[in-house]
Amino acid sequence: MKAKEQKTNKRGKKVTIIGAGNVGATVAYSLAMTGTCHEVWLRDRNPDISKGKALDMSQAANAARQHTVVKVAEKAEDIAGSDIVVVTAGSPRKPGMSRDDLLMVNAEITKEVVTDIKNHAPDSIIIMVSNPLDVMTYVALKVSGFPRERVIGMAGILDSARMAHFIYEKIGYGAGQIRASVMGGHGDSMVPLPKFSTVAGVPLTEILDPKDIEEIVERTKNGGAEIVGYLKTGSAYYAPAKSTAIMVEAILRDTKQIHPCAVYLDGEYGYKDVVSGVPLALGAGGVEKIFEVNLDDTQREQFAYSVDSVKRMIDVLKEKKFFDDIKG
Ligand code: LAC
Repeated sequence: MKAKEQKTNKRGKKVTIIGAGNVGATVAYSLAMTGTCHEVWLRDRNPDISKGKALDMSQAANAARQHTVVKVAEKAEDIAGSDIVVVTAGSPRKPGMSRDDLLMVNAEITKEVVTDIKNHAPDSIIIMVSNPLDVMTYVALKVSGFPRERVIGMAGILDSARMAHFIYEKIGYGAGQIRASVMGGHGDSMVPLPKFSTVAGVPLTEILDPKDIEEIVERTKNGGAEIVGYLKTGSAYYAPAKSTAIMVEAILRDTKQIHPCAVYLDGEYGYKDVVSGVPLALGAGGVEKIFEVNLDDTQREQFAYSVDSVKRMIDVLKEKKFFDDIKG
């Protein structure tokens, strides 16, 4: 079969993933398996391992009869033309370490990586995955200078998926029909919302008694640490990666789906100059709409506590003059 190459200005969608460790590589694999985009590029400190993973995944895409090609971005310039850049670069949690312990180490890494994004892919949408998630999303926003619609943190989808799984474990029915809802920061003070969680449309509060719901809520908050406890040398990656891939798909396919994600708040829920997880619509423009749901007093208090813990970490960075060399 012979084909003459046609000249065209159209190009396929390109997603770059910075940090090709367990989470980053699994995001790439998920995207390749569903053929969500034309090209996935991996950028990592270790180009050889990335090249091996990229080849392996490109071959897997062919096995799955998908068109996605996985490549390696050896130079910062290679991220040019990305529609979305996913940032997973950072030091992972070790056993006994809180997400917040990672603050300074990962803030510096994020600054470096996002400066490259700003310089080489100024029109891209950034999805932050590195921890502490909400603070890293704030750092990415400030360093990039991008509008808040184009800097989004993954976590709400992950925390909701964890809660959905624990609900399924408890009731044994309704897999795939469980909609769990978690708001707030991706930390120990996240806010699982049984009131907004349903099984095949039926409110969770009508299905389980308060004691069972409380157990699910606590296990959800501790969901990441439970897995770190088993893995010992790292943290979860299958569910974090799939949750990230869902965001990429919603944006590239312009689905306008509503998901809980981390975004810069500018007055919503009564907060400003902070990032937290709230329900929002994802589409081609990134964050297309932020929803303010009615929280009861307890939920509002929990949300306030969660936002506060993120604010405190941002304040630590401000005290250390972390943002002082960023040009507006
Ligand atoms: C977790 C880490 C990635 O929740 O924050 O598994």
